Amino acid sequence: MAIAPETLLDALQWRYATKVFDPEQRIPADLWSTLEQTLVLTPSSYGLQPWKFLVIQDPALRQQLRPHSWNQSQITDCSHLVVLLSQRSIEPADAERLIQATAAARAVEASSLDGYRNMIQIDLIDGPRRQIIERWSSNQVYIALGNLMTAAALLSIDTCAIEGFSPPDYDRILNLEDSDYRSCVVCACGYRSADDKYAALAKVRYAASELIEHR
Ligand SMILES: Cc1cc2nc3c(=O)[nH]c(=O)nc-3n(C[C@H](O)[C@H](O)[C@H](O)COP(=O)(O)O)c2cc1C
Repeated sequence: MAIAPETLLDALQWRYATKVFDPEQRIPADLWSTLEQTLVLTPSSYGLQPWKFLVIQDPALRQQLRPHSWNQSQITDCSHLVVLLSQRSIEPADAERLIQATAAARAVEASSLDGYRNMIQIDLIDGPRRQIIERWSSNQVYIALGNLMTAAALLSIDTCAIEGFSPPDYDRILNLEDSDYRSCVVCACGYRSADDKYAALAKVRYAASELIEHR
């Protein structure tokens, strides 16, 4: 069922990069679970889903991360903190995992997907894009970030995307250094504090006529 266009635009106008979260207000479990589904439902190139999402609830861990996040208060004060991880490389096992999942979900023979597996192999695994695979992977993760923020706004949940952090320090603290994933971007989710003066600031966006060209 479609939502009203003004509902969508109102939510996007209402959303802003929240600087001060109300530490007392928690996102209810059912709404949080819905937001987790929006992460899971995010589309990705080939459907490879080269990501993981760490939901950090441990206050001590958040305290540890904050100094490596430009000391931003959102890290400790938001309701749910998500560290979005991107996969470091794409290997044959990743193509195989996707083929097996597709075969199971669609009740087809895995062998019928050999052509698809081959496309992934010659493009991302053996092809020139292997050289830029970390960037490719993080491109996919940013789609999940956008999905999460828009979905949250539609549920009247505040967010702040955070690139102001040190990925090497996050990787060390979160024990990711020897894993297949690295920290890519962070999203703080929760509810704005009444004291956050940023909520009242006018949006700064270039005119659609400058950004969108019809040909
Ligand atoms: C990928 C990304 C990273 C960002 N990193 C930070 C950050 O570390 N700290 C912060 O306070 N805001 C951060 N922002 C918020 C932007 O500054 C903000 O979205 C932008 O100025 C537009 O304002 P608005 O979101 O309030 O409309 C980030 C936004 C994005 C999309």
